[in-house]
Amino acid sequence: MGEALLSRLIAQKIYQPSEVIVSEPQQQRQAFLEQQYGVQVTSNNCFVASNTAVLLLAVKPQVFDALTQELAVVATLAGESPPLIISILAGVGLSKLEAAFPKLPVIRAMPNTPATVGAGITAISSGSHTLDSHKEIAQQMFSAVGAVVEVAETLMDAVTGLSGSGPAYVAMMVEALSDGGVAVGLPRAIAMQLALQTVGGTVQLLQSGMHPAELKDRVTSPGGTTIAGIAELEHAGFRSALIKAVQAAAKRSQELGNSS
Ligand SMILES: NC(=O)c1ccc[n+]([C@@H]2O[C@H](COP(=O)([O-])OP(=O)(O)OC[C@H]3O[C@@H](n4cnc5c(N)ncnc54)[C@H](OP(=O)(O)O)[C@@H]3O)[C@@H](O)[C@H]2O)c1
Repeated sequence: MGEALLSRLIAQKIYQPSEVIVSEPQQQRQAFLEQQYGVQVTSNNCFVASNTAVLLLAVKPQVFDALTQELAVVATLAGESPPLIISILAGVGLSKLEAAFPKLPVIRAMPNTPATVGAGITAISSGSHTLDSHKEIAQQMFSAVGAVVEVAETLMDAVTGLSGSGPAYVAMMVEALSDGGVAVGLPRAIAMQLALQTVGGTVQLLQSGMHPAELKDRVTSPGGTTIAGIAELEHAGFRSALIKAVQAAAKRSQELGNSS
């Protein structure tokens, strides 16, 4: 996810390569990142933290405690020229971030997997020392990998249940549609192409502003094929299953956050 952001921030000229320092522990990856993006690469997290206006944390949540111990020096920068801390670590809340970086401006962000192809959506929440100018920086940064919404932190588990876990639900739907196509005689490759393009095209149509119910009604003629399919979906509890999936994932996100 860190590299997805890096590549698009550079490609879209939101930052010049000379403005970015990346910390990467593996030597081989260091050489790759340096060559690929023209940025300065180090394995010294403190060096990054002490020399940047924005510090983006993109490590696995399990590494957070060790990382913050390493970055204790940054916490002493409050009052001088404190960096804005932006974290994409799932399950690490603002209270934990603010405890690790007292009095510093902190933003918690939750991107999703389609961000890696520039089609993600990121929800951001701000800490108590965060100014509008800091939020603008985060909004600009995550707009490089898709859409951005601002939510109260209390809604981050809900965001995780919908847009965080949602790509898996959609992937399952595409796979199942393709299986359905094969079941009625289509070759797998064509079934997959039809399924993917149908989902992608429908999303584009809905993004033009049409309500999902209107689209469904428009393609459902009396006694026709689509209503026969819809009746099966309703019988199997399709919509209810998706609602419950979002609820279950949000609940699990809350449980994992509480136990971390
Ligand atoms: N992937 C997603 O769709 C997604 C969505 C939302 C949020 N997130 C969050 O994004 C974070 C990163 O996830 P990811 O999937 O991108 O994981 P990842 O591919 O494992 O990336 C983590 C990166 O951190 C580096 N790293 C490990 N220890 C480090 C240290 N002490 N100092 C500096 N860098 C260190 C790793 O380097 P090496 O691998 O070279 O050791 C790796 O490049 C996680 O906290 C996750 O919760 C991810």
